[in-house]
Amino acid sequence: MTPFVKALFDENTFTVSYVVREPDGHACAIIDSVLDFDHASGRTNTTSADAIVEYIRSEELKTEWILESHVHADHLSAAPYLQEKLGGKIGIGANITVVQDTFGKVFNEGTEFQRDGSQFDQLFRQGDSFFVGQMRGDVLHTPGHTPACLTYVIGDAAFVGDTLFMPDFGTARCDFPGGSSAMLYDSIQKILSLPDETRIFVGHDYKAPGRDEYAWETTVGEQKALNIHIGQGRSIEEFVQMRDARDATLAMPRLILPSLQVNMRAGQMPPEDEQGDVFLKLPVNKL
Ligand SMILES: [Fe+2]
Repeated sequence: MTPFVKALFDENTFTVSYVVREPDGHACAIIDSVLDFDHASGRTNTTSADAIVEYIRSEELKTEWILESHVHADHLSAAPYLQEKLGGKIGIGANITVVQDTFGKVFNEGTEFQRDGSQFDQLFRQGDSFFVGQMRGDVLHTPGHTPACLTYVIGDAAFVGDTLFMPDFGTARCDFPGGSSAMLYDSIQKILSLPDETRIFVGHDYKAPGRDEYAWETTVGEQKALNIHIGQGRSIEEFVQMRDARDATLAMPRLILPSLQVNMRAGQMPPEDEQGDVFLKLPVNKL
């Protein structure tokens, strides 16, 4: 089965959102949507999400799933907004509970913040499957970047989130709480054991030295041959040393604090105060 994949790129956060649809039907799934957020003013807007809504309505698609590859640290999810407009169930990895536990503490959320994943409609585990119309999706648990990262394999297309990036850019960072470069190595081997012709759709692209255009689609075969961090059978020792050294040089993503607070709630803002106002926290010297 070869699903049709529509990519929508958000240049502000370098995120690729996907609409995956049946080749001969109307069912679709949305993967990794973006709610636009201006950090300086604290304002949200729905330009990116509305582009998804417009595409789905113009193609007369039926949204069955709104999937997250993981709790993103660099953009807010538009899942609840899209669900209200289009329907569909919001899914994420079952290890979201680990992420909720970690960041529930960082943001001192207290007992009203549930850490059982109940904000989501579906928690997926390794080996689970689901359907988008007639198309079957299979779930790979691919931790390392975060504990809850999933790869969704739908027909011949693998949506790998932040594990592998384009071959000339390499792999995702592993230095967030609960991350592990050794774990990411093993997860990537899982992805690379799919057939060589499997299409890989990455969660971000930042261009790469010598490449002026954004790109997000590659294959398992290309990754095995060309990935600058892990291709040509790189050993786990070599990978871990490279990844950890590189991560030590990386700054925190610009939107990490708002993103985590919202995304660990399945894209919902924290509860309103008595006036109906919403606030995000800025923990000092915690991350
Ligand atoms: Fe990420």
